[in-house]
Amino acid sequence: MERIDELGRQLDAPLTASLGARPRPVFRVPVSGDEPDTLAALERLGIRNPEPVPGLPRTWAIAHEDRDALPHCELVENGAIHIQGASSQRCARAVGAEPGDRVLDLAAAPGGKTLVLAEALGGRGDLVAVEAVKARFFRLRANLERAGHKAVRTVLADGRRVPRPFHDSFDRVLLDAPCSSEARFDPADPETFARWSLKKVRDMARKQWGLLGSALRCARPGGIVVYATCAYSPEENEATLAAHVGAPDSLAEVIPVDLGPGVDTRPGLTSWGRKRWPDEVSRAARVLPDAFHEAFFVARLRRR
Ligand SMILES: C[S@@+](CC[C@H](N)C(=O)[O-])C[C@H]1O[C@@H](n2cnc3c(N)ncnc32)[C@H](O)[C@@H]1O
Repeated sequence: MERIDELGRQLDAPLTASLGARPRPVFRVPVSGDEPDTLAALERLGIRNPEPVPGLPRTWAIAHEDRDALPHCELVENGAIHIQGASSQRCARAVGAEPGDRVLDLAAAPGGKTLVLAEALGGRGDLVAVEAVKARFFRLRANLERAGHKAVRTVLADGRRVPRPFHDSFDRVLLDAPCSSEARFDPADPETFARWSLKKVRDMARKQWGLLGSALRCARPGGIVVYATCAYSPEENEATLAAHVGAPDSLAEVIPVDLGPGVDTRPGLTSWGRKRWPDEVSRAARVLPDAFHEAFFVARLRRR
């Protein structure tokens, strides 16, 4: 709490006060679906008055009291709607995938962002999704299948040790990294932070460093890498970026990230305690939590 409080002071945002205040449940109607029909079907199931999420097409928020009904409704089961936080969707969109691109999702399960990437490709190009944890890998496969994205190539592997032919070959890479998930902590639910420790933050930072290095090696020269976490710790965010940029022989530079309208962000930090990081790290965005958004860190890098 002390660390999140200090971060809130630096970002001029009430982060500790917003812990546990979950955003409204948000869902997206995939481009293959008919939006008015889907909303009418949702209403027939008793989930009424969804509100459009500003700045995100085909994306709707429902009332907190319908939170438990949504995951079990048949529209989710048959892939007619995808439940996904607004920040998650923005982060996948920041990849900027376009039809014909070759795209890598390096830590992909359960696949919410992979689905956004697959839609952006519109069936043209190449999408590879890597996941290291077996049970999660099979969940990823099932989710892609249910949404009808059979062409996505799935790979069960440690993202730090991907096959050699992946190197220097992708136009765009998403690394939505495993993290300490501090932005999901709820003071009223000790289970959400039971496994947190400073050691976990350090362990995660080491893993993220390895994964980001791999993501950058997989991008072609000039290719784009998006790095994201739902952690508050600067060690897992700005410090991870800083370890890969700012030197004459760095593989990448941080470039500005555009998360679209309707979302409140702050620049990445350039200092934390005694640590100092290059100015380019401030081009990253810290998404602040609000009624629609979960807190996130998102950075865009260009491979040199
Ligand atoms: C934040 S989650 C990804 C969420 C996903 N992008 C989505 O939007 O649905 C991070 C994922 O990375 C996986 N992971 C952990 N270590 C990994 C590694 N070394 N290589 C690849 N994936 C890893 C975790 O199992 C987890 O599924």
